[in-house]
Amino acid sequence: TNLVLLGPPGAGKGTQARMLEEQFGLMQLSTGDMLRAAVATGTESGRQAKAVMEAGDLVSDGIVIAILRDRLAEHDCAGGVILDGFPRTTVQAEALDWLMSDMGQGIRAAISFEVDDAAMVTRISGRYTCAGCGEGYHDTFKIPAIAGICDKCGGTDMKRRADDNAETVESRLRAYHAQTAPLISYYESRGVLARVDAMAEIETVAKELNAIVAKAV
Ligand code: AP5
Ligand code: ZN
Repeated sequence: TNLVLLGPPGAGKGTQARMLEEQFGLMQLSTGDMLRAAVATGTESGRQAKAVMEAGDLVSDGIVIAILRDRLAEHDCAGGVILDGFPRTTVQAEALDWLMSDMGQGIRAAISFEVDDAAMVTRISGRYTCAGCGEGYHDTFKIPAIAGICDKCGGTDMKRRADDNAETVESRLRAYHAQTAPLISYYESRGVLARVDAMAEIETVAKELNAIVAKAV
């Protein structure tokens, strides 16, 4: 089963993708994580992507599609993938359809995370992540059991993202509405769209998603 998670920055796509991975044995593929890794290791794509990401704009379709294509080829995706943050443009959605059909597969569900933009600034400015295992946390909404220590791996190195500031969030939200929101009707017309109320609490959203995914697998 292959899933697409659609939604603005801070909607909870990454948080829920990690929970779905554990629940259904799917593999989370986040183009944001792949791009941050490319920036950190200083590859050619990373060098081109860095300033674009810091400005909160979308990285070019060519770079993102190539990164995702290589990742799909690298892994055994037979168990299914959760695409988190891809596709973000119609060109990417069409490329994904081709990549999937090459593998003899398709997208079983595209899930739109419905939220109020205003709340996303709070979500994003309170976010931090464990450098050891990638688990995400929030200053108010998801606090580790022992302050400063990761629940999952016991690590103490917590990181905040360079693009998680109020100014960049505004550009990221604009990019979402202009370029990504049209994909809601793209998937609706293909009969695979589902919507979740992503303003609810993390566990409530997880329950709604579990029901949708259980029907799709
Ligand atoms: P990317 O890394 O994909 O970031 P994003 O889409 O902006 O999404 P986020 O990771 O910010 O949010 P999320 O929905 O995963 O929220 P999270 O679960 O962390 O992309 C970054 C950049 O890379 C882009 O701007 C672009 O430049 C580039 N890029 C990436 N993919 C691209 C593509 N395909 N094409 C072109 N460019 C691309 O949750 C946020 C916080 O809220 C956390 O702290 C969490 O604990 C908390 N939280 C989660 N759910 C809830 C809830 N229900 N209630 C309360 N708090 C919650
Ligand atoms: Zn950890």
